[in-house]
Amino acid sequence: MKMSRRMEGLKPYLFVEINKKIAEKKAKGEEVINFAVGDPDIPTPENIIRRLCQAAQDPVNHHYPETVGLPELRQAIADWYQRRFNVPLDADREVLPLIGAKEGIAHIALCFIDDGDIALVPDPAYPVYNISTTLAGGEPYYMQLVEGRNYLPDLDAIPEEVLKRAKIIWLNYPNNPTGAVANLDFFNRVVQFASQHDIAVCHDAPYTEVAFDRYQPISFLQANGAREVGVEFHSLSKSYNMTGWRIGMVVGNAEMIGALGSVKSNLDSGVPQAIQYAAIEALSSSQDCITKHNAIYQRRRDLIIEVLNDIGLKAKPAKAGLYIWAKVPKGYTSMEFANDLLEQAGVVVIPGVGYGSNGEGYVRLSLTIPDAGLVKGLTRLSAWQDRKDRFKQKK
Ligand SMILES: Cc1ncc(COP(=O)(O)O)c(C=O)c1O
Repeated sequence: MKMSRRMEGLKPYLFVEINKKIAEKKAKGEEVINFAVGDPDIPTPENIIRRLCQAAQDPVNHHYPETVGLPELRQAIADWYQRRFNVPLDADREVLPLIGAKEGIAHIALCFIDDGDIALVPDPAYPVYNISTTLAGGEPYYMQLVEGRNYLPDLDAIPEEVLKRAKIIWLNYPNNPTGAVANLDFFNRVVQFASQHDIAVCHDAPYTEVAFDRYQPISFLQANGAREVGVEFHSLSKSYNMTGWRIGMVVGNAEMIGALGSVKSNLDSGVPQAIQYAAIEALSSSQDCITKHNAIYQRRRDLIIEVLNDIGLKAKPAKAGLYIWAKVPKGYTSMEFANDLLEQAGVVVIPGVGYGSNGEGYVRLSLTIPDAGLVKGLTRLSAWQDRKDRFKQKK
């Protein structure tokens, strides 16, 4: 069998490796506390499930859906953007439902990237931006996200020869994995940069609804002229605990959305209709569940930060998103730290280097762990550090 050349460079997805290690531990009868994956532990709100079940029983919804989604869903998405961000959208031209944001993020590379083209990709970042670029035959150019710049890329530092070959720029705020946020000045600068260099903006924003301390994340589409240069990917996964249902959306520039719609209609058949009805319910009904869930995440965030700082891992409370980005003690690489923690304490965190070279020296912990596991995990963390006193030895 002869596979394509593009398969040669394709490594296993970050979580596949981590889940394999967890499965091995579990097979040995060991209990593992998992702070790795950003998959809400709280169930999907009941009204959404009820609507899903009703819709699943209606034979109308047993057929192939349209790739562009139900007009009612596109309208519900447009109405939600209007209410939430004061951004008006044309539901027919500027909105496209996705089989989860990940699906659209992966496929849009096919609309822009030819062999040798460049996508500007943050480092560290959600891995799909660089993987989809490479699979499409392009090259990622890594924009350095560092703490000193609040994890915002320095657009002026990108070399001219890179800009000439660059077709898209990927951005993601609230940011995974760092928890950083962006303001309107930054997004306005991105619009100016994108129009100056004719680069399409792909802003990935699945975490705008997970926010703390009364902070309200903004949309890239609130920037002046944003819809002339780019799109925003969004998702119901994190806002409404719907990761398992696979539904997201892309909104903004009509030409980009049309192109992605063409690729998708040739490759997939859209989101199952019952799930589209569940999404309409999620977006159109009371948003109280979001406040309720954020209070839970905020409490967990504060608990984790307290323990981490106590044992010598520096971490700041993020204003938004589902993660804590913590500096590992001196003398450890992020991989060594994560491996030792798993082997010796049975606690899983993600080594920052899995998100890119600038993630070295950090680990990511997720807030989506049920309270009982969280307390157990934190107790293990404290005990591991006390018992071994390893952090000090390594310095
Ligand atoms: C930054 C980012 N974008 C996109 C996604 C995927 O979202 P979805 O579940 O809608 O595919 C994730 C999931 O963890 C993410 O962290």
